[in-house]
Amino acid sequence: MSFQKIDGVEIAARAHGEKCWNAGESAGGRMTRILIVYHSQTGNTEKMAGAVAEGAASIESIEVILKEAKDTSLEDLLVCDGLAIGTPENFGYMSGAVKDFFDRTFYPAEGKVFRKPYVVFISSGNDGTGALSSIDRIALGYQFKKVYEPVIARNSKGGVTNEILAQCRELGQTIAGGCEAGIY
Ligand SMILES: Cc1cc2nc3c(=O)[nH]c(=O)nc-3n(C[C@H](O)[C@H](O)[C@H](O)COP(=O)(O)O)c2cc1C
Repeated sequence: MSFQKIDGVEIAARAHGEKCWNAGESAGGRMTRILIVYHSQTGNTEKMAGAVAEGAASIESIEVILKEAKDTSLEDLLVCDGLAIGTPENFGYMSGAVKDFFDRTFYPAEGKVFRKPYVVFISSGNDGTGALSSIDRIALGYQFKKVYEPVIARNSKGGVTNEILAQCRELGQTIAGGCEAGIY
């Protein structure tokens, strides 16, 4: 297993078939798993992913799986209880790496991810709506269930603000807390 450190937060990047470092059994059974799948070219979305992971990890009995889209497998998707999808907006769409994750997993996941809760976070230069609508449209095909408003950073040149990072932490807490409580 490998570890990623983003803004001081150490998160296990679980390799296929391996257990996460903080995985264990909660009182009622296995840990609730939150998958954070993202792509980042210049680091903005990666910072946001780290904050989402930090928020999710702050909830008790949560196992956070933080992975770049290119390394994210079908199994990661199938075994998670909820997912957060992060992308930069590239040419008015999600990044190619996130689209590739969807391309690889769509048919094999068909019928196995019904109403799986998801949230979205996006980094953009000035827009973000194209990336958001493209993800939401594909999520409809998977029959995922959107459980919280997206976080969209719209000022990539200035870097990701503390306010956006706080929103990302809240996003992580919300999906993790809701999945753990079984309210979705
Ligand atoms: C090839 C390319 C295409 C882009 N297209 C858009 C776009 O359509 N709309 C937008 O608002 N920003 C666009 N941007 C800006 C990025 O979305 C922005 O810099 C983002 O913060 C990058 O995230 P990252 O640091 O995680 O890679 C584009 C950047 C690149 C490199």
